[in-house]
Amino acid sequence: MWFISIFLLISAVNLEAYKVLLCFPFPARSMNNLGEGYVRHLLDAGHEVTFITPFPKKQNTPNLRQIDVSDNEEILANDNFMNISYILDNIVEPSSDVEYLQDMSLKIALRTLQNKNVKTLIENPKETFDVVVVDLLETELYAGFAALYNCPLVFAYSMGAHWVPMRLIDDPTNPAYSSDYFTTSIAPFSFTERFKVLVEHMKWRYAKTFKTMPKEEDAYINIFAPEIKKRGLIVPDYEDLIYNASLILSNGYHASGKIPNTPQNWKFVGGFHIEDPAKPLPEDLKSIMDSSKNGVIYFSMGSVWRSELIPKKITDGLLKVFGELKATVIWKYEGNLKNLPKNVHIVKWAPQQSILAHPNCRLFITHAGLLSSTEAVHFGVPVIGVPISYDQYININSAVDRGYALQVTLSYNLPKDLKSAIDVVFNNPRYKDKVKELSKLYHDRPITPGKELVYWIEFVIRTRGATHLRSPALLVPFYQKAYLDVVAVASIAMAAIGILLKNLCFGDSERKRRGRKEKRN
Ligand SMILES: *[C@@H]1O[C@H](CO)[C@@H](O)[C@H](O)[C@H]1NC(C)=O
Ligand SMILES: *[C@@H]1O[C@H](CO)[C@@H](O)[C@H](O)[C@H]1NC(C)=O
Repeated sequence: MWFISIFLLISAVNLEAYKVLLCFPFPARSMNNLGEGYVRHLLDAGHEVTFITPFPKKQNTPNLRQIDVSDNEEILANDNFMNISYILDNIVEPSSDVEYLQDMSLKIALRTLQNKNVKTLIENPKETFDVVVVDLLETELYAGFAALYNCPLVFAYSMGAHWVPMRLIDDPTNPAYSSDYFTTSIAPFSFTERFKVLVEHMKWRYAKTFKTMPKEEDAYINIFAPEIKKRGLIVPDYEDLIYNASLILSNGYHASGKIPNTPQNWKFVGGFHIEDPAKPLPEDLKSIMDSSKNGVIYFSMGSVWRSELIPKKITDGLLKVFGELKATVIWKYEGNLKNLPKNVHIVKWAPQQSILAHPNCRLFITHAGLLSSTEAVHFGVPVIGVPISYDQYININSAVDRGYALQVTLSYNLPKDLKSAIDVVFNNPRYKDKVKELSKLYHDRPITPGKELVYWIEFVIRTRGATHLRSPALLVPFYQKAYLDVVAVASIAMAAIGILLKNLCFGDSERKRRGRKEKRN
């Protein structure tokens, strides 16, 4: 009997099924994994989800409608930063080109909004949503959906507490002690690091304000505004719209530490994309991992490293290094490799979370993307990171700072450098102890990140935009925050007093002088 009442209770909590629009059109697997995390948790909570995705699934899922934007993939397909050979010869600093990244995101946004499936969605006057959750990577253009459907806006941010998204709901964080994905340093900064972070801020702001933002505003006016008008709604100014988000759901987590101040509507839900407990391993992988008495090293460089573009010299070198290890190596490699050493196994597709969850997994060699980095902490596996772009540097630096990781620089010496790093991490229990300790801290939260994410999205709908969580910082113009008006008033007052005093004294001494003259006379 009791379980029936519990069941009724659970279903009563969620009588309200909401319609949610999820917009995750960025054609990278990792971004899509995050989108799929939102989908999974919202469907589990009984909501109706419309998902704009470049990687739609074949099978139908009840309550899920997918809007296919798979041709977005073409934009990145020929990009040099997807080519590991190119990167090896042209080491790119993460900060090298903020304008390029802004441009690319805008290109993807424009392509998305011109996609015929998305157009159908936008132009259908009967379409309604209770909330829109849009990916926030260098462009805010998708905020237009909130104006179109006249509903609250939630930004889904794929990284931690960086100033670029923070500026949309509060003051940007102070560059003196908070880095972002264009910088590689961990606070406290040295003099030059602090200077570099500041310069990156200014470069980004300059590109956004004078180059990207006007193009975004044009797109908003051309694409969204006519449809908003058709619905009989007033078209909000682009600036009013993008600085009006109810929440930012950030993919960071508190256990990472060194987090700058965040407003009440900034929520950390990092780790929500992880399925816990992990799905069971496929039989072949399970038997390999079960029987690996000397531990397993899992080697995967994420979706950006296309294996067939890794130079042969490096691939051969890696196979030689791996072959000499006692441990088993599972390498996610999409191509075919001949003459594999006995302890090396190639998998074209790797159930990464299930591999990391296996108790014999003793080391994770990764590109240090945020999802992989979070999974390492979630499952408590030490890390060797080989970063190649953007936040991967800051992720691995922060892991090194926390004592459970080593960084190896990408170069033609990779096999040799990796070997020394493996020897250190594998033979020194410190790395394992540190990551287990951090993993405990990471899991110690009042609510799982997936549940928390659903809670806040429902909360925003229930409270019609959760305006009470918003920071007053956005209501106050810059000159007031910097007290420029007070400085101005104080300067005028001081100048006035100065003149007054001068007159008095001058007048005084003048009188005295005259007085003395008179006496002498
Ligand atoms: C990758 O980069 C290398 C070196 O710059 C170049 O020779 C090769 O053609 C590129 N391959 C692709 C698929 O872009
Ligand atoms: C700002 O958000 C609130 C709450 O979602 C909404 O009522 C209001 O219309 C929005 N204003 C603009 C300009 O988008």
